[in-house]
Amino acid sequence: MNILIINGPNLNLLGKREPGVYGSDSLEEIQREISEKAKQIGTEVDFFQSNHEGAIIDALHEAMDSYDGVVLNAGAYTHYSYAIRDAIAAIKIPVVEVHMSNVNSRDEFRHTSVIAPVCAGTIAGFGKNSYILGLRAAAEIAWERSRASQKQK
Ligand code: DQA
Repeated sequence: MNILIINGPNLNLLGKREPGVYGSDSLEEIQREISEKAKQIGTEVDFFQSNHEGAIIDALHEAMDSYDGVVLNAGAYTHYSYAIRDAIAAIKIPVVEVHMSNVNSRDEFRHTSVIAPVCAGTIAGFGKNSYILGLRAAAEIAWERSRASQKQK
């Protein structure tokens, strides 16, 4: 299984950005831990980060041909990007929405996710472990899909 982890705007600043909310690990450190876990789980993992909506949409489109699933922290785009929502709906691989913080216990505008209805599910509030849980979820869904398509043959 090959899973792509996409991080959206401001997540390149992890470690420096609001450490009380997002912790003190940098994105690179978190990605290293995710890679370790991926090895244990038995999946391949790649990473992409962009502060730009269009680049995230391009990455989602391209993921369709090369990956079995996506773990997406869309950052603040989560709350208002219908373009990212449409991109998720357009691709045929499962996308798991993740957030490091518990968005439901924060500002009112963070309680709305316009991408949630088209994602396979949402994981929020577990800090960097949200990515590990997201990876496990995406891999499970992808394995399940592959087993189901084998059965049909
Ligand atoms: C976030 C939550 C969003 O509301 C925020 O805009 C982010 C990070 C999280 O991981 O908790 O940039 O997605």
